Amino acid sequence: MKTARAWQLGIKDMLIMSGSRQRPHLKRPIWIIVLVSLVSICLIGAYIYPPRSSAACYIFSSRDCSIYEQPIHVPSRELTDDETAAQVVIREILKTPPVHSKNPKIAFMFLTPGSLPFEKLWDRFFHGHEDRFTVYVHASSEKPAHVSRYFIGRDIRSEKVIWGKISMVDAEKRLLGHALEDPNNQHFVLLSDSCVPLHNFDYVYNYLMFTNISYIDCFEDPGPHGNGRYSDHMMPEVEVKDFRKGAQWFSMKRQHAIIVMADSLYYTKFKLYCRPGMDGRNCYADEHYLPTLFNMIDPTGIANWSVTHVDWSEGKWHPKAYRGQDVSYELLRNITAIDMSYHVTSNEKKKMMIQPCLWNGVKRPCYLFARKFYPEAQDNLLHLFSNYTTV
Ligand SMILES: *[C@@H]1O[C@H](CO)[C@@H](O)[C@H](O)[C@H]1NC(C)=O
Ligand SMILES: *[C@@H]1O[C@H](CO)[C@@H](O)[C@H](O)[C@H]1NC(C)=O
Ligand SMILES: *[C@@H]1O[C@H](CO)[C@@H](O)[C@H](O)[C@H]1NC(C)=O
Ligand SMILES: *[C@@H]1O[C@H](CO)[C@@H](O)[C@H](O)[C@H]1NC(C)=O
Repeated sequence: MKTARAWQLGIKDMLIMSGSRQRPHLKRPIWIIVLVSLVSICLIGAYIYPPRSSAACYIFSSRDCSIYEQPIHVPSRELTDDETAAQVVIREILKTPPVHSKNPKIAFMFLTPGSLPFEKLWDRFFHGHEDRFTVYVHASSEKPAHVSRYFIGRDIRSEKVIWGKISMVDAEKRLLGHALEDPNNQHFVLLSDSCVPLHNFDYVYNYLMFTNISYIDCFEDPGPHGNGRYSDHMMPEVEVKDFRKGAQWFSMKRQHAIIVMADSLYYTKFKLYCRPGMDGRNCYADEHYLPTLFNMIDPTGIANWSVTHVDWSEGKWHPKAYRGQDVSYELLRNITAIDMSYHVTSNEKKKMMIQPCLWNGVKRPCYLFARKFYPEAQDNLLHLFSNYTTV
């Protein structure tokens, strides 16, 4: 109120002053009025055009300065209709509390070319927990021959999947779509034909169910295999600063799965502009779409690591694959003991980022599943299963 009155006064004085060419000798009250009006104009200015920098904030300290200390999301451009719609829908879904099902289940979604070599092992894993899981199989090139009763009749309609192309993401979405049809499914795990379980069912169930985050691998890689794959065509909706990378093997809560179903805006950006051969570079949507999307819309809702272990330490194009003779109690104990997640950038610096795996704020083993195993490893895994899964 005081400011407003001072401001009116100030304007009036300004008008009077600019109107009078020959200024009489200024008396003290006029000086004070001039000063007050200048200050008021500054304050009004600061109110209408909020300061962007913290320096300005300390000068115009009429408002709470703390909010300027963190980078806040100030939309610097007008959003398109599609973007506004997407953001409203996503925000509503994130705000909606999860529906409590009486019989919460985990959906195990297998993305495979054909038959699953570890069905017997999974059968052992699932046995005795029949009312707490559902299985979905997307076999992209040939009809699988199932040996376990938990897999028979669980094939969903599939389409061809080409490695590195958007058809991979489409298959993931197809699996999520089918799994969401069962309202009891609360958590959704994507697995490959070369994945094996590292713990017993109860451990996996409790790990995924009694937390409210999704385990989506996500990190910022300034190198050629990260931001080097970004295309400016993704602008303005996806800027390079938002671009993230991560392994495709996710596990996500229901809310996030619904967002993946609802999103067409960001999905389309990746479909069109993140593909092999884009702008002379290879971009793989399955490694970038979900990490980028969730980093943009719900960064604290994802763990930033995947619960599926894979060993890239050999530094080759493909991760290490374990043969039958590699599978020992010691190897499995080594993998299940890991409680730090590692990411390495692909530039010359090869910067390694190490983070503890925090489960509800407590440091815990990172991995529930592991890949890649050759089919011949099954006998050893079955033999060791009840031993290595005791913890
Ligand atoms: C994941 O990374 C984002 C961005 O770096 C961070 O804001 C978020 O807190 C991380 N998630 C967890 C669970 O720590
Ligand atoms: C998860 O739950 C904890 C409390 O159990 C809460 O503090 C936290 O904000 C929740 N996180 C998300 C992403 O909902
Ligand atoms: C298990 O980890 C120990 C300690 O890092 C290492 O010496 C050993 O070679 C590992 N064994 C296997 C089978 O990976
Ligand atoms: C399983 O663990 C027990 C006790 O640690 C050990 O005696 C047994 O030999 C182990 N079995 C296998 C197959 O490693």
